Amino acid sequence: MTEISNETRFLHAIEMGLGAWQWGDRLVWQYGHGYGAEEVRHAFDISVSEGIRFVDTAEVYGNGTSERMLGQFIQSTDQPILIATKFFPWPWRFLKGALPRALKGSLGRLGVESVDLYQVHWPSVSMSTDTLMEGLVECVKSGMTRTVGISNYGQTRMLAAYSALARHNIPLASNQVHYSLLNRSTEKDGTLARCKELGVRLIAYSPLEKGLLSGKYSVENPPPGTRAGSYAGMLSKIQPLIKAITAIGQDHGGKSNVQVALNWVICKGALPIPGAKNAEQAQQNAGALGWKLSDAEVAKLDELSDQVQE
Ligand SMILES: NC(=O)c1ccc[n+]([C@@H]2O[C@H](COP(=O)([O-])OP(=O)(O)OC[C@H]3O[C@@H](n4cnc5c(N)ncnc54)[C@H](OP(=O)(O)O)[C@@H]3O)[C@@H](O)[C@H]2O)c1
Repeated sequence: MTEISNETRFLHAIEMGLGAWQWGDRLVWQYGHGYGAEEVRHAFDISVSEGIRFVDTAEVYGNGTSERMLGQFIQSTDQPILIATKFFPWPWRFLKGALPRALKGSLGRLGVESVDLYQVHWPSVSMSTDTLMEGLVECVKSGMTRTVGISNYGQTRMLAAYSALARHNIPLASNQVHYSLLNRSTEKDGTLARCKELGVRLIAYSPLEKGLLSGKYSVENPPPGTRAGSYAGMLSKIQPLIKAITAIGQDHGGKSNVQVALNWVICKGALPIPGAKNAEQAQQNAGALGWKLSDAEVAKLDELSDQVQE
């Protein structure tokens, strides 16, 4: 087990964050239909009042809108908010200088001098891992970010990134990957265990499987937009798992499905960052904190989730 470095320790103390992809995204989340700036602002406010202090955004979310909104929101709260944003590896970005340049743009939209975590959103097709990590090193050295991480990296690439940063004495703070009761590849391929071994925080994105784990969608009532197609096959198989989630929630005094699903991620040792479109969703998601599933309940959920993914 590698000792967690002092610089990245704060990430290991955060139990849950808030995802900000929904803020301005029309393609997947249909921003402007059923929710907009006011609802998103309330989602942020409620999250903060419930003790959430870590927000994940990216330069590409809503084409910069998400970062701009977060910049406005943090101005009007007296709570310290930890900000994570991301560099998108467009194929025409092929020099390490692209990273500090892009981060400067993000800082401008956020209205801050530095962020807490700067992540490479996806592996690049035009830059080697070494070049990308050298770019991240420049971002740390210039003081524009406190720590650096990666996203959507499998184990092999993650180890290469870890070593490349280590040569500059910079710790790899995190790997942000898809992880939920309906997508456990990151657990099954050993990435989660390797993260723990290296002191790298695994940040779990889509921890509610884009709303499916709330139980509100079914074959008869599919989610709107692009999710309908991508989840068509899965929706017919999830009912036994959803039923077990509901029953376990009831055994915990009426915890909702999303609270159980998020608590499961936390029990696995990962940091979930659920997205919320409005105050009600944010409030409910925050209720995943302050209690814990038993080991037997986690095992039961594992078993049923295995049956969906078979
Ligand atoms: N690094 C990456 O490549 C990557 C990829 C994806 C996401 N992310 C990050 O991870 C965050 C979370 O992932 P995600 O947004 O994909 O999915 P998610 O958190 O699994 O699902 C969020 C969606 O679920 C529904 N929902 C949320 N709370 C709910 C509640 N209490 N009750 C019922 N429905 C609820 C809402 O959609 P509806 O109401 O429309 O159903 C919401 O937009 C993102 O915001 C982003 O910051 C990163």
